[in-house]
Amino acid sequence: MAANLEVSLGGLRMKNPVTVASGTFGYGQEYEPYYDISQLGAVTVKSISLKPRAGNKPPRLVETPAGLLNAIGLQNVGLDVYLAEKAPYLRERHATIIANIYGHSPDEYVELARRIDAENAADALELNLSCPNVHDARKRGGAALVAQVPETVALYTRAVRSATKLPLIVKLTPNVADICEPALAAQEAGADAVSLINTLMGMAIDPETRHARLANIVGGLSGPAIRPVALKMVWDVARAVKIPVIGMGGICDASDAVQFLVAGATAVAVGSVSFRNPRAAIEIVDGIARYLERHHMTDIRELIGSLVV
Ligand SMILES: Cc1cc2nc3c(=O)[nH]c(=O)nc-3n(C[C@H](O)[C@H](O)[C@H](O)COP(=O)(O)O)c2cc1C
Repeated sequence: MAANLEVSLGGLRMKNPVTVASGTFGYGQEYEPYYDISQLGAVTVKSISLKPRAGNKPPRLVETPAGLLNAIGLQNVGLDVYLAEKAPYLRERHATIIANIYGHSPDEYVELARRIDAENAADALELNLSCPNVHDARKRGGAALVAQVPETVALYTRAVRSATKLPLIVKLTPNVADICEPALAAQEAGADAVSLINTLMGMAIDPETRHARLANIVGGLSGPAIRPVALKMVWDVARAVKIPVIGMGGICDASDAVQFLVAGATAVAVGSVSFRNPRAAIEIVDGIARYLERHHMTDIRELIGSLVV
């Protein structure tokens, strides 16, 4: 008999523990030629803001050793198009939807949450409080990211919590001294789950021209290069909080995903690897099932947090 892969993330039921990382899977439609996206535990969409955003100037993507540096700048279709076109498509496909939202104030997050909830356009919300790319790197000491300050994490989380009953996932940035502090702040403010990690801030320079390789100068590093950092942060946070954790950062195959589950993640998100292998996420679902069978486990919960110490 096939093992039970179903997990629950604070009210969000996922048929398996695999979702995709926001910004690496568009709105799901882009992956239609490759497989049936309803087979994923959930589809997490690109961050949605109230108004459409064009994002940063190119170049916005640079390859680095075992990684990808991006400064997309939250380009997205905006809430109206999401509600009119993207969410209906995902509903038609019977996908479980995690809507990742992004704003500039608690009020903007509240409006996004209310309208998405009212139109039944998601099964859970993920708050992107941690994107590093919207502050211009030339302005020294620009405002700290919301996700870097536990008090503002709590403020934003509380505001959205009071506006919706949808399961609420707070996405954390690794660009802090101790990621457990914002994780605990999110939990105390009513988050149902936390997801981590967003990208690590980085930069790359062309030594011949002495120009930064990204027009934005700095960007966010993702991919296998960040996996050990992400895994350690998931391990730390999973022990610090009581709410479930979604782990991500450099997951490329099922054996990577298993590491995050063993470290304590209840679910995982597959990110940058989808650009290289668009079937990666669905292959990881199958690979986890085969892993459980090989290890004579009948339920994914036997694996979660099972690190042998
Ligand atoms: C091109 C690109 C765009 C991204 N856009 C978003 C975004 O819109 N919102 C968000 O919360 N995270 C965004 N992320 C971060 C990913 O969701 C994820 O946290 C990060 O890439 C780590 O996972 P990975 O190493 O598997 O890619 C983006 C990442 C990449 C590479």
